[in-house]
Amino acid sequence: MTKGSNPCTSLIVNEGMLMKVLVSDSLAEEGVRRLESGAEVDVITNLSPEELVKKIKEYDALVIRSGTKVTAEVIKAADRLKVIGRAGVGIDNVDVEAATKKGIIVLNTPGGNTISAAEHTIAMMLTLARNIPQANAGLHKGEWNRKKYTGVEFFNKTLGIVGLGRVGAEVATRMKSFGMQILAYDPFITEERATQLGLTLVPLETVLREGDFITVHTPLTNETRNLIDEDEFKIMKPGVRIVNCARGGIINEAALAKAVAEGTVAGAAVDVFTKEPPTGNPLLESDKIITTPHLGASTAEAQVNVALAVADQILTIARGGLPTNAINMPAISPETLAVMEPYMNLAEKMGALAGQLMGSGFESLELIYSGTVAEKDIRPVTISAIKGLLGCLMGEGSVNFVNAQRRLKDMGVKLLESKTESANGYSNVITLKLNKKGTVTSIQGTVTGNKEKRIVQLNEYHTYIPSEGDMVISIIEDKPNIIGPCCVVLGEGKINIGAMHVGRIAEGKPQLMVLSIDQMVSEEIMKKLGSVPGVLSAKMVGL
Ligand code: NAD
Ligand code: MLT
Repeated sequence: MTKGSNPCTSLIVNEGMLMKVLVSDSLAEEGVRRLESGAEVDVITNLSPEELVKKIKEYDALVIRSGTKVTAEVIKAADRLKVIGRAGVGIDNVDVEAATKKGIIVLNTPGGNTISAAEHTIAMMLTLARNIPQANAGLHKGEWNRKKYTGVEFFNKTLGIVGLGRVGAEVATRMKSFGMQILAYDPFITEERATQLGLTLVPLETVLREGDFITVHTPLTNETRNLIDEDEFKIMKPGVRIVNCARGGIINEAALAKAVAEGTVAGAAVDVFTKEPPTGNPLLESDKIITTPHLGASTAEAQVNVALAVADQILTIARGGLPTNAINMPAISPETLAVMEPYMNLAEKMGALAGQLMGSGFESLELIYSGTVAEKDIRPVTISAIKGLLGCLMGEGSVNFVNAQRRLKDMGVKLLESKTESANGYSNVITLKLNKKGTVTSIQGTVTGNKEKRIVQLNEYHTYIPSEGDMVISIIEDKPNIIGPCCVVLGEGKINIGAMHVGRIAEGKPQLMVLSIDQMVSEEIMKKLGSVPGVLSAKMVGL
């Protein structure tokens, strides 16, 4: 992949300079060493929010776990930050919205700690069922009380799982071997996936009513915050046991403490808290609630996995590649990128051409994909078109692959995408239409069999506009002695013409003239060109 054609190009630090990475939470040594193989790395943990705001200005990348809070204030101060890498899954400690607006990639490393989190959940469930921490503490104090610590079996009990993603599914698979019946609630999981896992998908209420053990495995979002609150505890089976190894706040902490105190809930096991470390948390007050200090992913294996995964993605970005797990930009595998890259480049140039011809103030952008390109994943192509369009108007540096779509939305510009089979005689065509106060600029482009990118139509004109370089695009009358004087004006200005394409819709109708030139034309020469008799309009364009 060439740097110039990569959608992440504008995210790369200056050529020849090493990316500067701040690691602000503890990260496995292997990950730090991997980062150091291609970047300048500072490991500074336990920074106060104020210190982080000051420090962040110096860095291109920030690597965190769950300890560092990357707030809007931190992002505002992060003048050169390109990427926030989360070694782990949860990104609830990052203001992704603020990062996206600023064009900063937020990426995580899902999968690396799934098994550890699932095993910790099961460990917590077992200790909860058999009162192990309490019995251990009692024995250490000299107490021998076998009756007090009588537990319950898993066998023939019902396990309710809320959130059947990576961790939830691994917990389910393992808990089946204990002879448990599993009920799962996840509105985003298909019946097909549940069947594949040998599970029954049920409404949340059924999980709550029927679970002997209930474990949550969702992310913390506005929708899942307090998903299990006072009302939900009211419908649970008396004696239910609750586990939260996902995120503090999915289960309301005060409501859980109350349900345990009242005896509706026999016990709970909690690894995660709304505020970490937890202070004055009611969950720490009951000896029926087993707690661990966010240890779900704390195994040697998981820490190395996530540290290497985050380091590799950051180094990939530093080299101009695309990360595999960006939260705020479409994931593109290297294979897909290899196929889509010519279309992405073409779309970006088409966007830039439309922007230069039409200027700002447009109300809608439409992209129509026809022929073979319509069969592919067109999301990165659309983003490239937006990037090209806005980049030429707002300055290349301010629009990138991460924030292009967001910026268009913030401008109130409507985005329309559609696909058609027929490609007008070409094997593939991308049509871009920009609508401004009822005037539409329409551009069509195609990628040829040998990956050459061509703009083949501008408004009503069939043409050939190279997808790169500087050019003058004019509309001239269909009369003799206009093209010659135009070339003379450019020649007098010492501007060499590399190629020329002239076309008309019908005899006597205005013609489109595209002159490819070797250097940009001054405003003065453009003025002279515009006043050549018969020239209706002339615009300098750089692609
Ligand atoms: P995941 O994205 O693979 O799975 C989350 C699942 O929750 C998805 O299937 C999603 O459809 C589902 N979901 C989303 N909203 C829901 C809702 N309103 N109701 C029900 N289901 C909903 O994530 P994962 O990797 O399985 O991680 C799960 C959780 O565990 C996350 O919160 C993650 O941060 C946390 N985690 C904690 C530790 C730890 O150290 N304690 C370690 C790893 C993961
Ligand atoms: C995660 O979301 O990956 C876990 O909570 C683990 C961690 O914070 O490191």
